[in-house]
Amino acid sequence: MIKKIGVLTSGGDAPGMNCAIRAVVRAGLKYGLGVYGVNDGYKGLVEGDIVELDRHSVSDIVSRGGTVLKTARLREFKEESVRQIAVNNLRKLGIDALVVIGGDGSYMGAKKLTEMGINCVGLPGTIDNDIASTDYTIGFDTCLNTIVDCVDKIRDTTESHQRCAIIEVMGNHCGDLALFSGIAEGAEMIITPDHPIPEEEVMASLRDLYESKKKRAVVIVSEKIYPDIHAFAKRITEETGFEAKAEVLGRVQRGGSPSAFDRVLAARMGAHAVDCLLEGKGGICVGMINNKIVDYDIYEALQLPRDKHISMLRLIDVLK
Ligand code: F6P
Repeated sequence: MIKKIGVLTSGGDAPGMNCAIRAVVRAGLKYGLGVYGVNDGYKGLVEGDIVELDRHSVSDIVSRGGTVLKTARLREFKEESVRQIAVNNLRKLGIDALVVIGGDGSYMGAKKLTEMGINCVGLPGTIDNDIASTDYTIGFDTCLNTIVDCVDKIRDTTESHQRCAIIEVMGNHCGDLALFSGIAEGAEMIITPDHPIPEEEVMASLRDLYESKKKRAVVIVSEKIYPDIHAFAKRITEETGFEAKAEVLGRVQRGGSPSAFDRVLAARMGAHAVDCLLEGKGGICVGMINNKIVDYDIYEALQLPRDKHISMLRLIDVLK
């Protein structure tokens, strides 16, 4: 029977991570476990930056964005010798098991640690929504609402100046933030890795639009599609009739108070992670599928095909 658990956040921070931390701490304490917070993700695990938490350590953090445990990306964690240092640090404190809140890169570290004797459970904490074993990741909903808020504002000036706004949103290699925000905004065009549009076709469609007397447009683009979004906007200005302005929303998308949806999701997942550890499970990750909290083996989860939201892709054309 486990007696002590740890919790850490890893990879890019996401709104709602604090709610997940709180859920793990409160549920752990409720079941009589000692609960430890690891600062700076796997980096803190290797450096031994681990502190015991009590219920007050997580008071008043539900509404705060970011992560109170801080986060980091540690490439060296792929090396077994580095992970062994982390295992030794956990053993020294008598910590039997760990909850890892982060993206799919963090999941792999959790699986490897489990194979070295520390049961780990992963929670999907990332704005990208790029984890196939859950319908939604913690932070996606808040980020989506932030994007919609920003695009609403950009739309005002786009409308006033009769321009074409090219808005680049985050998501790493996943187009969900662009797709969902584009649908929410009724964007004239949505360009994502799952819905790429050849540049020539973009130019031709915008030219048609301009000639149909529509003098303003909103185009939402996933990051990492165009190496230089400003050069892309310049080409639109030169070739379509529209005056195009590119906006890169950047890290404003990752900040801010988590939405109610993300808070509830994080609370449900955090409590489930503690249940799993108490049942002796490890090397798994928690998800929400069809509104049910579920868990998968991490290797299995990482092999699952991602939902490409084909029915939503259809909407782009239907609602044009
Ligand atoms: O994974 C979250 C994310 O915000 C991605 O959308 C983005 O590509 C990346 O992190 C940026 O990371 P960083 O802030 O470390 O540059």
